Parts: sequence; C-alpha cells; structure tokens
Amino acid sequence: MRSFITWFLAFCALVASVVTAADSSKQSTVVFTNTRRLLFDVDGNQIDAYGSKINYFNGTYYLYGNSFSVTGTAFGIKSYSSIDLVNWKYQGYLYNPFVPNPCDDLGGCGRPHIVFNDQTGTYVLWMNAGNPGYVVATSSSPAGPFTFAGRAAIDPAFTALQPADFTVESLGGQGYLVFSVLNFRYPQAGSLWPPIQQTLHISQLTPDFLNTTQTSYNVTSAAVDLIDQEAESPDLFMRNGIFYVSASNTCGYCNGSTALIYRSKTIQGPWTRQIIAGDGCASQAEGVLPLSTGDNKTTYVWHGTSVPGGPRTGFSGHIFQPLQFNADGSIQDLICGADAQFSVAFTPGTGASVMGSATTSTDASPANATYSPVCDSDQWTLYQTWTASKTGTLQQVSVNIAASYQKAPLTLNVFKFSNLSALESPQYRWTELGNATYNATSLSYVFNTTSVFLNASVTKGDKLGVQISGSDFAPYCHLEYDVPVGSDQVLLQQGAGQNSWRGLNGKKSVIYQRVGKAVKTFTVVT
Ligand SMILES: *[C@@H]1O[C@H](CO)[C@@H](O)[C@H](O)[C@H]1NC(C)=O
Ligand SMILES: *[C@@H]1O[C@H](CO)[C@@H](O)[C@H](O)[C@H]1NC(C)=O
Ligand SMILES: *[C@@H]1O[C@H](CO)[C@@H](O)[C@H](O)[C@H]1NC(C)=O
Ligand SMILES: *[C@@H]1O[C@H](CO)[C@@H](O)[C@H](O)[C@H]1NC(C)=O
Ligand SMILES: *[C@@H]1O[C@H](CO)[C@@H](O)[C@H](O)[C@H]1NC(C)=O
Ligand SMILES: *[C@@H]1O[C@H](CO)[C@@H](O)[C@H](O)[C@H]1NC(C)=O
Ligand SMILES: *[C@@H]1O[C@H](CO)[C@@H](O)[C@H](O)[C@H]1NC(C)=O
Ligand SMILES: *[C@@H]1O[C@H](CO)[C@@H](O)[C@H](O)[C@H]1NC(C)=O
Ligand SMILES: *[C@@H]1O[C@H](CO)[C@@H](O)[C@H](O)[C@H]1NC(C)=O
Ligand SMILES: *[C@@H]1O[C@H](CO)[C@@H](O)[C@H](O)[C@H]1NC(C)=O
Ligand SMILES: *[C@@H]1O[C@H](CO)[C@@H](O)[C@H](O)[C@H]1NC(C)=O
Repeated sequence: MRSFITWFLAFCALVASVVTAADSSKQSTVVFTNTRRLLFDVDGNQIDAYGSKINYFNGTYYLYGNSFSVTGTAFGIKSYSSIDLVNWKYQGYLYNPFVPNPCDDLGGCGRPHIVFNDQTGTYVLWMNAGNPGYVVATSSSPAGPFTFAGRAAIDPAFTALQPADFTVESLGGQGYLVFSVLNFRYPQAGSLWPPIQQTLHISQLTPDFLNTTQTSYNVTSAAVDLIDQEAESPDLFMRNGIFYVSASNTCGYCNGSTALIYRSKTIQGPWTRQIIAGDGCASQAEGVLPLSTGDNKTTYVWHGTSVPGGPRTGFSGHIFQPLQFNADGSIQDLICGADAQFSVAFTPGTGASVMGSATTSTDASPANATYSPVCDSDQWTLYQTWTASKTGTLQQVSVNIAASYQKAPLTLNVFKFSNLSALESPQYRWTELGNATYNATSLSYVFNTTSVFLNASVTKGDKLGVQISGSDFAPYCHLEYDVPVGSDQVLLQQGAGQNSWRGLNGKKSVIYQRVGKAVKTFTVVT
C-alpha cells in the first residue's frame, strides 16, 4: 500500500536525484512507458505542447510545440526546459500570440522547429503559416522572445502547392529543411480518402539559416506510392554518415498513423523507406531526440503525439522510445506493447535544475503515474480525500481540470473530516477550510492546475479532502489514476441530484467509493 507519505519521500528522492544530475560527469536514466503519455511541468500543469520537438541547446533540453490550452486549437508556441527530461519548467510563449502576428494566417504557426546557428549565435524559429514558404523568427535565447523576420522561400517548383509540416536541423554546421507540400487539387483524391496528396522534400538552408537555397530533392522511396505521397510531420537526424528522415502518414493528431523512416547517404537520394510501426504505437510521429550517452555515442529517441486524437488534441500526450539500429543502418520496428518500458541512459544537461510547486509538494499524486482523462462532472460530484502527512499551514490544494463550453462554474471546496464513515453519513458536517469557484472561461482546454489558495492550520494525521463539483450539460474533465484498494487516498462520489438514503432497508448512503481510483491532486503545506 502506498501512502501519501511514501509519495512524499519519493518526491524528495526525485528532487535529490535532479540536483546531483547537474553534474554532467554523471549519467542520468530516464524511463519511458507506452501507457504514461501525459506529461506535467514542475508546477503540476499538463505540458501544453503538441507536435513537439526536444532540442538540446546550451546545456539544457527544451521541449516546445503548439499550445492548445487557450482556444482548443493551435494557438501560440510554448516552451519548457529541463536538464533531466523528467522535470520540466514552463518558459512561456516563444512569441506573444495575443497580439496580431503572421501566425494568425493559418493554424497558429504549426509544428514549429528551432535551429541554432553557430556562426551568428542566433536561434532561428521556423513556423508553418500559409503561403508562401515558412515564417521565420530569431532570438538570442532558445526560449525567446522571438522576433519575426519574414518568410523563407522554398523551391519555386512547389509555389502552386501549400507548404505544410516540416523540420529544420543543423548537421555539422550545415542547415537543412525537410518539408511537405499539400496538393489540394490531387486528381486521384477519393470521395472518402485520401483528400489530398502530400510529398516530402529536402533543401539546404542559406548560411544564416533564415532561408533555403530554393533547390530541393524529393524524399521518396522508389515506389512513389500512396505512402510516399501521404507523408508529413518530418524530422531529420544523421547517424554514421547516413541522413534519416522520420515521418508519419497524413493524420493531423489522429489516433495513430504509420511511422516512417527514410534513409540515404546523400540528400539527393535514393532514399530507402521503412514502416517501423503500423499505427505509431497509437501516436503520430513528431520527432527524434538525439541523446548523448557521454562516450561519443548517441541514442536516438523517437517520439510521437499520442492518443486520443480527435477534436480534443489537448488531451493528447507523448510517447518515447529509443530507436534500435541494425548493422546496415536500417531500424527495427517500434515496440508497441502497452506494458513496454524503455530505460534510456544519457548525459544530463549542465544548466540549472528546475523545481516548482508540484515537485516540492507535501501530499501529491505521483509524478509518474498513468493518468487518464475522465469527464463526468455532469453526473457526479467527487470527494478526493487524503491524510495530512505534515503539521503546518495548508496553503494550496490543486486539481488538474480541463474545461470546454460549460455555463455552470466549477467549485472546489477543501474540508477536514473525522473519518470516512462519518463523511458518508447523513447530517454530518465537515470543517470547511477554503474554496474557489472558476468559470469555464477562466480555465483552459487542457489539464491545467486549478487551485484553492487558503491559510488553514492542519495537523499531521488530519483527514482532508477536496470536493469537485460542476454540474452542467457539458462535463468538466479531471485526471484519474489507479490506487491499490486500501490506500488512504479514497475517492468518494455522489450522483447528480442524489440527496437521500437509498436501498431496500433505507440505509444505503448516496456517498460511496469509486474503488481503486484517485483524482490527480497536490497540496502545499508550509
Ligand atoms: C515512478 O516513481 C516511483 C517513485 O520514484 C518509482 O519507484 C517507479 O519506479 C517509477 N516508475 C516509473 C515507470 O518510472
Ligand atoms: C548560454 O548560457 C549562458 C549562461 O546562461 C549564457 O550566458 C549564454 O548567452 C548562452 N548562450 C547561448 C548561445 O544561448
Ligand atoms: C528568402 O529569399 C526570398 C527570395 O530571395 C526573399 O524574397 C525572402 O525575403 C527571403 N526571406 C528571408 C527571411 O530572408
Ligand atoms: C519530385 O516530386 C514531385 C512531386 O511529387 C514530382 O512532380 C517530381 O517529378 C519529382 N522529381 C523527381 C526528380 O522525381
Ligand atoms: C485508436 O487506436 C486503438 C489502437 O491503436 C484502437 O484500439 C482504438 O479503437 C482507436 N480509436 C479510434 C477512435 O480510432
Ligand atoms: C570523442 O570524440 C572527440 C572528437 O571527435 C575525441 O577528441 C575524443 O577523444 C572522443 N572521446 C572518446 C571517449 O572516444
Ligand atoms: C467517526 O466520526 C464520528 C463523528 O465525528 C464519531 O462519532 C465516530 O466515533 C468516529 N468513528 C471512528 C471509528 O473514529
Ligand atoms: C467559501 O469561502 C468563503 C470565504 O472565503 C465563505 O464565506 C463561504 O461560505 C465558502 N463557501 C462554501 C460553500 O463553503
Ligand atoms: C462568472 O461569470 C459570471 C457571468 O458570466 C460573472 O458574473 C462572475 O463574476 C464570474 N465568476 C468568476 C468567478 O469569474
Ligand atoms: C495554467 O495555470 C498557470 C498557473 O496555474 C497559469 O499561469 C496559466 O495562465 C494557466 N494557463 C491557462 C491557459 O489557463
Ligand atoms: C493566516 O492565518 C494566521 C492565523 O490563523 C494569520 O495570523 C495570518 O495573518 C494569515 N495569513 C494570511 C496571509 O492571511
């Protein structure tokens, strides 16, 4: 049985290991699983970056991607920093999306990529935003703010088509763009599918990395079939003198799409293609992260934007796994089993370690549990309980909530109670410690923390809880994870409108346990 105290100790261990990880002579290990896909920053907010790319810049790992929290669609680009690939600190938007900008033209500047130019000491951000070519912006810092610098031009052979997903990368000081172009007038478009044709091409960048040479080569297999002609979301890396382009098939944050790898000794081709997963392990390929292992060797970690797909892209997460290479340079199939775990050794960053209110929390759900979205506030009021592990002042209780189009507000009430049977009994009155009410318009479309700030004395061993209520036709969503039966993190539920005894004997409480489940929460006690 794992208690909150155990989790607290686990957090101390986690923080301690992060602090030592700053010593780059040491190796770090990060564990990835196929089921744990939602990532959180050190303040407990869901990492709000989709179609992500992770770069190692100047001693720190940066994860960035399109934000979906504000409008429910791609709006702005957020970045997060880490030295250990576990603890991520939110670093804000790369540019201010709330003022008019070139990204307003199409899709909020899709699937962004940043490339660092050693010669100019400048970070160059490339973004997909309509025609022509790509929007570029520059900064002296990997987390921005970036200043828009116009549009890069692509090979004029494709000016009649729509530039789409792409990547930029610097390999040995030479910059490259791999880009896809959409043909909306595809003569073989089906009534159902495919709606368009989409092909991949590679160009070199100009020395300042702000443009291309406007010469390109096709990234396609000899087949030039419907797989080659529906390729998107590329990334580029080099290993043992071979260029690799990872990609997916046309999908757009779907529930899974073929994971493709092209490889060639030169950018002119010919390219050899592999399908390394039929559905990308229920994800869409988003990038490949080269991780130094300290002995001049590199592990290439493939990653994808993972389920659910569909309208709420903001409920997607990321899955990661190291690519396994064969002697001829080909790559083994991805391992898609739900129980697969990947332990990856790497050299941690040398930058500052990061912490936040969630990593220094007193009583909290585990950082690395497998969390699933549950949307049921239309049917249930929930009561998540725990036992205080520390005496002090309870200052914050946070729950990850995602909103959409609710009219009724979401209310969180923090309370102290004597014991569970009392709490389930009629006429029992708890001790109210604090509360907060939020309109849907002040929440986000992703699992941002939603907090009650309070000033309540608590004593170690106190029974505490948070009531989560927001009854509306469209339910609010929270995150749940599995807890062992017998855990003191008991989750109680009360059906909508249920306010009286039930049962043939008239002695069945309307408050009862949601067995084996807990709501993701954390508290701050000082
Ligand atoms: C999650 O964290 C706990 C506590 O640090 C650790 O024991 C466990 O191995 C971790 N699980 C994974 C999959 O990383
Ligand atoms: C790298 O980080 C150092 C220390 O923070 C800073 O002074 C320097 O400007 C950074 N360089 C680049 C290119 O980001
Ligand atoms: C890229 O080159 C084209 C063609 O010369 C030019 O019109 C465009 O302004 C250039 N873009 C940038 C960002 O330098
Ligand atoms: C490259 O791809 C384009 C678009 O599919 C096609 O029109 C062109 O013929 C191809 N070029 C070569 C050299 O195969
Ligand atoms: C998503 O993919 C999984 C397997 O990868 C499948 O079981 C599930 O039915 C799919 N859902 C949808 C909506 O396509
Ligand atoms: C790593 O590579 C560098 C430059 O190529 C070389 O100087 C160094 O000796 C290598 N280190 C090891 C451990 O192989
Ligand atoms: C539970 O709390 C009630 C009300 O405060 C109290 O009367 C009862 O004795 C408690 N039961 C236990 C087992 O502590
Ligand atoms: C919420 O807290 C305020 C004080 O901050 C208190 O006046 C109010 O009664 C509380 N509401 C509920 C429902 O407990
Ligand atoms: C919620 O919205 C209503 C009306 O739209 C407004 O009167 C109220 O002040 C808002 N409450 C909060 C907590 O934002
Ligand atoms: C998410 O929460 C953080 C802190 O709790 C807040 O600063 C941020 O504005 C929130 N983001 C959105 C999109 O609501
Ligand atoms: C918190 O409560 C204590 C006593 O209960 C009081 O002295 C203190 O001023 C309060 N602090 C805040 C920030 O309200």
